[in-house]
Amino acid sequence: MTDIGRPMQNVLITGGAGFIGSNFVHFLLNRDPEVEIVNLDALTYAGSTENLKGLSDPSRHNFFHGDINDRTLVEQILRDHRIDTIVHFAAESHVDRSILGPEQFIQTNIVGTHTLLNAARHFWLQEQSIVPEQLAQRVRFHHISTDEVFGSLEPDDPPFSESTPYAPNSPYAASKAASDHLVRAYWHTYGLPITITNCSNNYGPYQFLEKLIPLMITNALQGLPLPIYGDGLQVRDWLYVGDHCEAIWTVLRNGKPGETYNVGGDNQPFNITVVETLCDILDELHPNSAYAPHKELVQSVKDRPGHDRRYAMDITKIHKELGWTPTHSLAEGLMKTVTWYLNNPEWIESIRSQEDYQNWMKKNYIKRGEET
Ligand code: NAD
Ligand code: DAU
Repeated sequence: MTDIGRPMQNVLITGGAGFIGSNFVHFLLNRDPEVEIVNLDALTYAGSTENLKGLSDPSRHNFFHGDINDRTLVEQILRDHRIDTIVHFAAESHVDRSILGPEQFIQTNIVGTHTLLNAARHFWLQEQSIVPEQLAQRVRFHHISTDEVFGSLEPDDPPFSESTPYAPNSPYAASKAASDHLVRAYWHTYGLPITITNCSNNYGPYQFLEKLIPLMITNALQGLPLPIYGDGLQVRDWLYVGDHCEAIWTVLRNGKPGETYNVGGDNQPFNITVVETLCDILDELHPNSAYAPHKELVQSVKDRPGHDRRYAMDITKIHKELGWTPTHSLAEGLMKTVTWYLNNPEWIESIRSQEDYQNWMKKNYIKRGEET
């Protein structure tokens, strides 16, 4: 698109030390030379300031270590930095953890999102008294959501579209669905200018090691088992994180208030195919590995309870209305991703050395080992 779209100057990014949020911080500093960023992140087990090293212009990035549930802090940031745009990534994001303990998902994903919405409404509509005719042009609350709110597809079902009814299956998906409804309700009831993107599985640099792709890469490098849940014939719609950042930016600039947009990668392989492709790439890039061929490390383990079988996104709307399309094939994206992990052993070590991560791996492996 040639028109840059809605003006945007002071951007609050929540969860900007996590996987997608930190990629977005790097991306936005490069993409938008005028924008000032405030990054609010609680630095839970999933967030790390290691993800924010090497920013292209650190002078335009202000980091706040804090919780989106802290209303006083959120209001102070909105006021002190005259925030005109909120990009809300902060969440508990891991489905397996939501199955073991849903409480934190309710607190962060639902209550936390509501705290932000309420603070934005108070600041923009009451304190700044922006008149309704100017709201859509001057401010925006953008909420990052997931395809998991739509539930699971049968093999012959068409992909999820923006009008697919919500049918979340895991506590994580249900908490994201609830937050989406709150965001939509703030538009409908109070006229708060919002947009929502529902996105499929992301992968790329800085992804926490518990997720499928980085877990498989880092386990393979150590000769550890590559645990495939069930038969491995589940399907996810893989999107390279850089393409996701571009989609979010496109919606921030040109998306219509009150609208939701589906974002996906047009890559829908079986899980087992993704893992075998990763093994092939590792064999190629790391031929002297003591563990090659890495495919021999693949091990079937007990399935995730309530495991959704298939996700696929229809991305016609964002393509036709805003001109966005993913640019990475899965082969290209996986090659870039494996290369990034191979080139960043210190980053991997900074995650592996965390006590929480070690406990999670121990608990997960022991539990699954016993059940298999
Ligand atoms: P992540 O788990 O890597 O990062 C989450 C970040 O949020 C962390 O930095 C964490 O410290 C921070 N955070 C958590 N609770 C907080 C709180 N109360 N206050 C402030 N910060 C807090 O997650 P991700 O994979 O980068 O996902 C980001 C967003 O994108 C989430 O909303 C997730 O639901 C959504 N999403 C993720 C994917 C994916 O494939 N990863 C796909 C679709 C949508
Ligand atoms: O679809 C979007 C969602 O993708 C996001 O909303 C979530 O935040 C994100 O975590 C991701 O959820 P998934 O459950 O799909 O991601 P995960 O990486 O945990 O698993 C991907 C697939 O791989 C899933 O079918 C489960 C399977 N899997 C996962 C792990 C960790 C395995 O077979 N073995 C594993 O060890």
